[in-house]
Amino acid sequence: MSAARLGFPHLGFGVGLRHAHVAYVLRHQPPVDWFEVITENVLESRGRPRAALDQLAERYPIVLHGISLSIGSTDSLDLDYLNKLKALANDVRARWISDHLCWAGVGGHTTHDLLPLPLDERTLDHVAERVMRVQDIFERPLVLENPSTYVTFTRSTLGECEFLGRLAERTGCGLLLDVNNLYVSARNHGFDARAAMRSLPRDHIVQLHLAGHTDCGTHLVDTHDGPVAELVWDLYADAQAFTGGVSTLVEWDARLPSFERLHAETLRARDRLEGGRQRAASSGTNGTESQGLPHPVTTVTPELEFRDG
Ligand SMILES: [Fe+2]
Repeated sequence: MSAARLGFPHLGFGVGLRHAHVAYVLRHQPPVDWFEVITENVLESRGRPRAALDQLAERYPIVLHGISLSIGSTDSLDLDYLNKLKALANDVRARWISDHLCWAGVGGHTTHDLLPLPLDERTLDHVAERVMRVQDIFERPLVLENPSTYVTFTRSTLGECEFLGRLAERTGCGLLLDVNNLYVSARNHGFDARAAMRSLPRDHIVQLHLAGHTDCGTHLVDTHDGPVAELVWDLYADAQAFTGGVSTLVEWDARLPSFERLHAETLRARDRLEGGRQRAASSGTNGTESQGLPHPVTTVTPELEFRDG
């Protein structure tokens, strides 16, 4: 396993847990390395849903992934939300807390969308100051993800990865590189995904996301409704080589398949790396420009028995 990044462990290959799969996971305890849970789905949970989360956290490493931090908004930070999130993260021993580089509301209204920001020095100052305040509350680095985008601003003077890289270096925050989002945005806006990725500070990348998208002909949409596209798998291999190996997770939200099918997509992420490493070994090179591909996943050993949820 590769070394920890920013103090965060390498968790292996995980699954984005969706409500429809919770009972299955509690009953069958599949050998998944870790689960990412949507913060807003569990932040106010009580009773049986909270008991289920606690049971999951006893068995698996949990990461909390949010959609309403709205780090780029001009609204005040929601201190009630942040303090509840910190308490929940402590309760479930969340390995880290992530959200997106976006704004998700203004004037007290939440859009439930991850909206893009004009990327320039002024926005960088604004977001950096808010990231620092969030990290002061959390007492740990925040992890921010590149969203998929469909519009850009004429005001922007920085590329998204350049912006994220400078933000990470200024604030010490971690980065969640969504490989599918990078691919989607690169296709939609016509930039070189690999060159953009290589502009990121690799030591700040603590996690990768993979997901499916929909090709609408003139543009791609990040739909999370199918398997990972082949060209995204290729970019993923480059991302693992670039980072030296970091925690990876598959997201699947619409047209949700069985848990077994979703888990198979996660195992494919692991197998892609093992195949790449074997090919590199047989060719006598390490196959990467960094310190090699990550070691195979370790399996978490259950420590507690718990009842069906
Ligand atoms: Fe993502």
